Amino acid sequence: MKTIITYGTFDLFHFGHVRLFERLSKMCDQLIVGVSTDEFNALKGKAAFFSYQQRAEIVAACKYVSKVIPEQNWQQKSADVSRFDVDIFAIGDDWQGEFDFLKSQCEVMYLTRTDDISTTEIKNNLAVKSVNAA
Ligand code: CTP
Repeated sequence: MKTIITYGTFDLFHFGHVRLFERLSKMCDQLIVGVSTDEFNALKGKAAFFSYQQRAEIVAACKYVSKVIPEQNWQQKSADVSRFDVDIFAIGDDWQGEFDFLKSQCEVMYLTRTDDISTTEIKNNLAVKSVNAA
């Protein structure tokens, strides 16, 4: 069985996230997604609109996803790769090179991001719209 693992915040779940999962699911039998907890996001200086429970529930409902786990710190990836017998660690190319240290354990893949969509962009666009509407 081929297993892929990926990680992220996945706040305001959008089609860039769906397409990442779709591409990954086509390369494996099992897609595991590590969703960043609120505590880990705080550590990264990132604040999500939806809570960890809500984001994990949404990601788990995506048909391409086999399993959701919490991403609680920077160090867990290596242990997760061993624990779940992961074949490929995959993530968007905004993280290019950052996880090459996992190459001794599994294949490491950086995928091209979907153009013109991000959670940050959605938040900014909504903020502009609400200012213009006021
Ligand atoms: N991703 C992608 N294409 C996009 C947006 C995100 O492939 N257009 C991927 C990222 O590269 C990452 C994963 O989805 O592997 C989770 O990214 P996340 O940071 O949660 O989403 P973003 O939309 O990039 O959120 P933000 O703007 O807060 O960084």
